[in-house]
Amino acid sequence: MTVQAHDELRPIDLKDPDLYQPGVPHETFAWLRANNPVYWNPETDGAGFWALTRHADVMAASSDPATFSSARANGGHRIFNENEFSDSEIEASMISMDPPTHVDYRRMVMGGFTPPRLRDMEAGVRRRAVNLIEAMIEKARAAGEPIDFVSSFSAPYAIQTLAELFGVPESDGDKLFEWSNAVVGEDDPECRSSPEYMEQSIGQMAMYSMGLWQARAEQPGGDLISMLVKAAQDGTEMSIPRYLSTFILLVVAGNETTRNSITGGLIALDENPEQREKAMGEKALLPHLAQEIVRYISPVLHMRRTATRDVEIGGQPIRKGDKVVMWYASANRDERAFDDPHRFDIARTTRPGAAKHLGFGFGEHVCLGQRLAELQLRVAYEELFARLPDLRPAGPPRRLRSNFINGIKSLPVTFATR
Ligand code: HEM
Repeated sequence: MTVQAHDELRPIDLKDPDLYQPGVPHETFAWLRANNPVYWNPETDGAGFWALTRHADVMAASSDPATFSSARANGGHRIFNENEFSDSEIEASMISMDPPTHVDYRRMVMGGFTPPRLRDMEAGVRRRAVNLIEAMIEKARAAGEPIDFVSSFSAPYAIQTLAELFGVPESDGDKLFEWSNAVVGEDDPECRSSPEYMEQSIGQMAMYSMGLWQARAEQPGGDLISMLVKAAQDGTEMSIPRYLSTFILLVVAGNETTRNSITGGLIALDENPEQREKAMGEKALLPHLAQEIVRYISPVLHMRRTATRDVEIGGQPIRKGDKVVMWYASANRDERAFDDPHRFDIARTTRPGAAKHLGFGFGEHVCLGQRLAELQLRVAYEELFARLPDLRPAGPPRRLRSNFINGIKSLPVTFATR
């Protein structure tokens, strides 16, 4: 990709959700990495923020939570200030906390993602992938035309896994799906039609999660909700309001991200047929395919921090209280960290000295669901390759209007139904 000259008369606004509607603006990010890597992005409705676009700077900020705070009291983990947001009566979840409190809450949830637990989940994940593929085949036969991959496969697959994690029926997935869309889809009217709709979704999630709390208090199981209830009963800091925010975090974090990686991966494979051949021909490469999809797609475009002291990053002085936004979508394509970064290359991580991608974040808040997401990606592609070897996009994706999630709302696909 060539770095195009940037029109100096039109300041770049990385916050503008329209910028991402046609796809991640990789040329703009490449220009910033080369010319203004720690870029001051003015805001019409805020104080402005520093945009970190290089891999090394995003790593540095992620590695120093004492200086680069996620705490809601300082503004939180999103570009908007969470402490000014109307839903602030819902307590901060771990993603908007700093150490040492953050560590305590993270520990209470970690039990749901241990290697033995993930091994136990694999059979269920595979069964769901197979069932959804069978249903897709029936649907395509009946339709006689391309069907939507997101609603037929990637969305229910991700959400049903969450249902298993929570120990609730797969049929509750529709509700979890809708609520999650409302929470992260603030800039897309199809996902969040009004602030009232968002309030209503949060209210419904609260009612639902409280019902679960009660049920698990009476009859505990081996699921994540039972673990959280037990933590509260054991006298830890896990209160009901904290449980509620943890529940909302998990619904949102585990849903869109996995869904968009699977869908985005299908497009990337279609655009890179030699990589598709390679992945289909060598099962051992599938864990690397999962990694490369997350690097290449960057399903989470950015996370935000706030400086707690005067500091310098990438040679740029930053003042205490300044907002700092870490653009994973740019760091993951940084030519200083990755050879030929715009090339989709599934063997990239097999090479000695390969840089670590930052699609799952880094440091204190690195994704808690990373291993589960990798498992879901690997199993999805194992089953899709085996059962639908000619599965292909049949038209352009409809994209989410968002500066936060690299989202795909629908993607028509075709395959031989045999
Ligand atoms: C491809 C899929 C996924 C991607 C790209 C992704 C990305 C991320 C990123 C970038 C962060 C860092 C946040 C920060 O530094 O502020 C994060 C945190 C988190 N993710 Fe994921 N995620 C994925 C899947 C999941 C899944 C499946 C779950 C759970 C079901 C999950 C749960 C979490 C939680 C709980 C955190 C907060 C961790 C903390 O604050 O300590 N994620 N994720």
